[in-house]
Amino acid sequence: MTVQQDANPEHRPAAIIGGGSIGVSFAVSLLSSGRSVQLQDPDAARLKQVPAETRARLETLREAGLTTADPDAALERLSLFTDLEKAAKGVSLVIECAPEKLALKQQIFRTLGEYAPGDAVLASASSALLASEIAAGLPHRDRCLILHPVNPPHVIPVLEVAPAEFTSAGATDSAMRQMAAAGFQPVLIGKEANGLVFNRLQGAILREAYCLVRDGVATPEAIDEVVRDALGMRWSVSGPFETVDLNTRGGVASHAEKMGPAYLKMGRERGQDDPWTPDMVKTVETARRRQLPMEEWESRVRWRENALMRLAAFRRRDAGEDG
Ligand SMILES: NC(=O)c1ccc[n+]([C@@H]2O[C@H](COP(=O)([O-])OP(=O)(O)OC[C@H]3O[C@@H](n4cnc5c(N)ncnc54)[C@H](O)[C@@H]3O)[C@@H](O)[C@H]2O)c1
Repeated sequence: MTVQQDANPEHRPAAIIGGGSIGVSFAVSLLSSGRSVQLQDPDAARLKQVPAETRARLETLREAGLTTADPDAALERLSLFTDLEKAAKGVSLVIECAPEKLALKQQIFRTLGEYAPGDAVLASASSALLASEIAAGLPHRDRCLILHPVNPPHVIPVLEVAPAEFTSAGATDSAMRQMAAAGFQPVLIGKEANGLVFNRLQGAILREAYCLVRDGVATPEAIDEVVRDALGMRWSVSGPFETVDLNTRGGVASHAEKMGPAYLKMGRERGQDDPWTPDMVKTVETARRRQLPMEEWESRVRWRENALMRLAAFRRRDAGEDG
């Protein structure tokens, strides 16, 4: 019997460089989607722990109903290497998950140019470095970009895809396709910015949370409670723009008109002077009305209320099981 070769280059194995928390988690998702993974870590002792950690995660994902992949079959598609050169061979995607050090990542990306196939997408999972810092000056920089995960990526599959100005559209599209095929939810970032979207938003909250603790307005416990059980709970159903759009009759434009001055005052107390100008509000309002025409507003408000109720019931049951 002849085995059919898969002609789609995007179905070739993926390489994971660095088998720590993020590397293993990425491997779990790629393996459970049916992809082969070549994982490299220079630390042989670390590498030894990878199969058991991968298996444990595949098993818990299956128990949770989040994958149908058989852990034994998935693990057969995992190969381990201490040499980068070997792990990069024959792949169509590399995700570098090594420690967050610029010089180390630059060295890895230089080496990848030599050993990974000429059409492979070369990505870094970096939280705080940009592709334009890691890959500047490399002859193969047009294939380099950031794929920033949310920890743990095999449970929260949203992925920020952040190309540099020099990244080709072809490499970006291929990264988006390959990650979507592996069950991820790629979100394309329009322009490089320190911290991208996730960490800039998280940073805004943390900056304010630290100030509130410093000023004696709230304890760390109180802040965690308000975010976990109120803001965060609502945001797990609708993002910040949809939330204010649904909170205010007349939608986001009406919210900005009524509440904009109060938020501006809070910002100014922290030395930030970024009023929500009519142009900014118009951009958000246009996007919201594309998503939700005004005549459907009432039914979406009811939908959110019902979704929050189901979530509240789940949280109550879950807390009961934990306790
Ligand atoms: N942990 C998070 O919450 C999180 C979230 C998003 C992105 N990231 C990013 O993912 C990357 C990895 O973070 P992590 O939390 O998995 O770190 P980690 O410390 O858990 O793992 C890093 C791994 O890299 C290995 N390593 C060391 N030198 C190496 C080299 N030269 N080549 C290949 N591997 C090498 C280490 O042995 C270790 O196993 C970082 O860039 C980090 O910013 C982390």
